Amino acid sequence: MQHRYLVKELLLKITKMLGDIQRAPREAQLLLMAYLNVDELWLITNQEKELVDVDKLFEWVQRRSANEPLEYITKSVSFYSEEFYIDKGALIPRPETELLIDEVIKRVKDKDTAFTFVEVGVGSGIISILLAKHFANAKFIAVDISKEALKVAQINIERFGLQERIELRLGSLLEPIDEDIDYLVSNPPYIENGVSLETNLSYEPQNALFGGEIGDELIKQLLDEVLKQKIKFFSCEMGYDQKDRIQDYLNKTDFKSLDFYKDYSNFDRGFTLEL
Ligand SMILES: C[S@@+](CC[C@H](N)C(=O)[O-])C[C@H]1O[C@@H](n2cnc3c(N)ncnc32)[C@H](O)[C@@H]1O
Repeated sequence: MQHRYLVKELLLKITKMLGDIQRAPREAQLLLMAYLNVDELWLITNQEKELVDVDKLFEWVQRRSANEPLEYITKSVSFYSEEFYIDKGALIPRPETELLIDEVIKRVKDKDTAFTFVEVGVGSGIISILLAKHFANAKFIAVDISKEALKVAQINIERFGLQERIELRLGSLLEPIDEDIDYLVSNPPYIENGVSLETNLSYEPQNALFGGEIGDELIKQLLDEVLKQKIKFFSCEMGYDQKDRIQDYLNKTDFKSLDFYKDYSNFDRGFTLEL
């Protein structure tokens, strides 16, 4: 016979099952809401409701108690006030990447621009999708080296009805691009190889995190391409300690401006180069 639980009992049970997970009572609510596909109000007003068939929920809770990120379990992530599909092949979008999107929007004042934007390292698709929503006449080509990430991006692009405006290409950096590029944007992997990370990060694709022996190798390769192809704008996220090296790298080159921006914790987090 299947066990029956009241909503309030189930919340207590899964909070306990979550063990050492921080904010366990809140995580229990989030897991239950995602499992039942209900909102906060439903949860508050249905505490006495009886539920059966929750075995799958218990599997979710076990995965979460082993530190798997909530987003991979529920296959959903909030970013820039929108809900996106997410799965293990793609990095979970980080809040600071909103600032990279704002950076691009700030640079291109004309919302109707017909620019060709290229994104390198599209991951789940959040950057190209939000920029394509903002710049309704622009064309987007988004590259990733990972087939799994491209699958996640494809699902999100279809969810937002942007298949005609964002083209996905498999490949490394700008290799798959022959077109002239007006604006290059990227949140590339930029962590130094071998740095040990928290356990929850071990669930994320490692080629989305590690950028090379120093960490900034891919950023420098992109800078080389920007200079070679004379791409007018390049906005890029970077590690908090990479500003000086990037500035030095561009020391002997001609450009119009190089502006760095900080993240919500006041760490250096990215830059825009304008040629
Ligand atoms: C930090 S994630 C960014 C994902 C997404 N744009 C975001 O901001 O959440 C970096 C992405 O770059 C991809 N990547 C790594 N090396 C690459 C390369 N050489 N060329 C293209 N993409 C690459 C990874 O597969 C990953 O999807």
